[in-house]
Amino acid sequence: MATTELIDLAIETSKKAYVPYSHFPIGAVLVAKNGQIFTGVNIENASFGLTNCGERAAIFKAVSEGVTDFEELIVYGETEQPVSPCGACRQVMAEFFSKDLKVTLVAKDKSTVVMTVRELLPYSFTNLD
Ligand code: THU
Repeated sequence: MATTELIDLAIETSKKAYVPYSHFPIGAVLVAKNGQIFTGVNIENASFGLTNCGERAAIFKAVSEGVTDFEELIVYGETEQPVSPCGACRQVMAEFFSKDLKVTLVAKDKSTVVMTVRELLPYSFTNLD
């Protein structure tokens, strides 16, 4: 799927966000190396700390389906500047993505910033090596 189509899918996906508290919908589209696509939205809770971000929803869906090899991630938010993933999501990305994986961050006017996982979370924590 072309990047413009993936961006449109992220925008469509964001409409499914469960955001009664923040009214800040996020849509994430995760492309696996095998071509499968996993979407994710932020899902909030009356107990605010239980909120789960769109990025992690997409990653957890994929891993739950046994898919762990990823190509790229697109994240859309209704923001002036391309949306910036939270620290928790960056750490989860670092767990499952290669350091060079392309993350496309998208603003409400569809402008983008493209970053790698390495750039999003430099000198990231690991206990595997
Ligand atoms: N949120 C995401 O889903 N992804 C991010 O990268 C940043 C924040 C959500 C969490 C919450 O539902 C809302 O945006 C406001 O923080």
